[in-house]
Amino acid sequence: MGWNDQIIKEFRENNGRVGGMFEGAPLVVITTVGVRTGKPHTTPVVYYADGERYLVFGSNNGRPTHPDWYHNILGIGQVTMEIGSEEGHVRPLSARAVVLEGEERDRYWELQCARDPAFRAYEEKSARVIPVVALYPLDLSKDPARNRMIGEQLIVHHQELRAELARVRAAIDAVRAGGTAASTTAEEQGAAPELAEQLRKHCLTFCWDMQMHHTREQGSFTAFERQYPHLAPVLRRLRAEHVVVERALAAFEELLGRGMSGTPAEVGQVQAELDRVVADLEEHFAYEEERLIPALNGVVG
Ligand SMILES: [Fe+2]
Ligand SMILES: [Fe+2]
Repeated sequence: MGWNDQIIKEFRENNGRVGGMFEGAPLVVITTVGVRTGKPHTTPVVYYADGERYLVFGSNNGRPTHPDWYHNILGIGQVTMEIGSEEGHVRPLSARAVVLEGEERDRYWELQCARDPAFRAYEEKSARVIPVVALYPLDLSKDPARNRMIGEQLIVHHQELRAELARVRAAIDAVRAGGTAASTTAEEQGAAPELAEQLRKHCLTFCWDMQMHHTREQGSFTAFERQYPHLAPVLRRLRAEHVVVERALAAFEELLGRGMSGTPAEVGQVQAELDRVVADLEEHFAYEEERLIPALNGVVG
């Protein structure tokens, strides 16, 4: 486990508190979408609480380049933040990221440096204008039109995931057909390496997009719990189903991480792991849409 992963683990286990160099610092863990890879990117950052929003700083510990999470939010300005709560455990929040500009950026940067001089040192060391980003947690009480849009987006994301799944299935068929055509001893030789690599890529894309979809949902469920208390049992069930899928996704990603040569045995294993991920997924999607969308549309269910 890397240094970052250890901090994140400690953070999650201790309601957002960690020791070492972050001892006593207000920390938030953010997950963004990798701008080039599409892979979820999770990292701890120091925040400054400013009313309802949280300000985070792209100091990158004084390195000469902006941190990856900053580039990611320039691509997709939607993040999931995890933060300690009064309930005694870390809660995920879905948030919109806005980069502060001009005088506002400078003013909050100065405030942060005054509060924590390490940030001044980072600025001097990096010779960059360090970005200041405001995170606005999702609040479903504010804008009915936005809530309706979130419902529409949910359906779009589910459709995209279904389409990706269809591509993965097609890639599995292609590898199988390639393997049979290439050789009578397909068991040893397997499919063409490029087909196997294509399959691996499709699988990884599906895997990361599913992980990202769930990470985002976990964050928005917190806003649902606040706004629609009658949905508590529904959200408990959905969260529990996410845990099952997340475990299967982690195993799937690990398998894909070993690389692929395309032997029939290996393709069979990929298919078995995929089946584990998608078991009951259609039912989960349908239940989620059926129960959450009426609430977002203002229909009390
Ligand atoms: Fe879900
Ligand atoms: Fe979903």
